Amino acid sequence: MTFENILFEIENNIGILSINRPDKLNALNQATLKEIGNAIDLAENSDGLKGLILTGSGEKAFVAGADISEFQGLSVEEATQLASNGQALFFRLENFKAPVIACVNGFALGGGCELAMACHLRIGTEKAKFGQPEVNLGIIPGYGGTQRLIQYIGKGRALELLMTADMIDAQTALNYGLLNHIVTNEELIPKAISIIEKIGSKGPLAIKGVIECANAFFDKEKEGFNFEARTFGNLFTSSDVIEGTTAFIEKRKAAFQGK
Ligand code: COA
Repeated sequence: MTFENILFEIENNIGILSINRPDKLNALNQATLKEIGNAIDLAENSDGLKGLILTGSGEKAFVAGADISEFQGLSVEEATQLASNGQALFFRLENFKAPVIACVNGFALGGGCELAMACHLRIGTEKAKFGQPEVNLGIIPGYGGTQRLIQYIGKGRALELLMTADMIDAQTALNYGLLNHIVTNEELIPKAISIIEKIGSKGPLAIKGVIECANAFFDKEKEGFNFEARTFGNLFTSSDVIEGTTAFIEKRKAAFQGK
């Protein structure tokens, strides 16, 4: 599959996706969102994939937002559909079976902040900057920003950022819990790879279960504790549970097969 707006490769069972429109600060136009969906398809169908890394090409931006040039002249129906489609795509990342890590090397604004928040973890450089500046344009976030920002940083801080359109720097994002780590530019991708490798040494079905249970906490259709108990129980049909517990008793490293 060829891409025009992203770069995507799978190396050593880790998918690396770079939004690749640096002259537009990697703004997410519809073509780019479609290609991200196609890359997720490839990743989902890749046996043994340990995780996904998302980043932005160039030195200035992770993603500076949805492409504003596509917003003019939208009808109510078209704008609603645009938001629903973006949300559906970002749900695919949030519900991905293996860890998804955003490597934020600059501006993560609007749809870029929303994209980073749909990932499971966020690692940034000192140049990372987060914000939801949509109100500057007379609009609100549409790809989940009003919901996920509250999940990460709490309602008071989220409302301030959403209403003032202020940006926060990497240190503030770390203090708020929006960033997991701050590293140098050279360490950015290697740090994400090392976290994915560490997670990849655990039981893949258990990791999938952890992701599903964490997402269940925020899903009003699900009751998190029941969901956790059921997910815990279902794992006992897997051979990985036998392998993991046996390996502990035999004092050796478990060799999980994801089955
Ligand atoms: N949509 C479309 N194009 C965008 C964009 C976006 N969200 N963000 C940046 N660009 C484009 C600019 O139009 C410019 O294109 P041009 O060179 O063809 O004129 C190019 O990317 C570089 O951006 P520029 O504004 O010149 O860079 P800067 O360093 O002066 O400012 C920002 C950087 C991030 C502060 C500024 O680009 C910005 O405010 N972007 C919009 C952020 C936003 O509102 N995002 C939410 C959208 S819903």
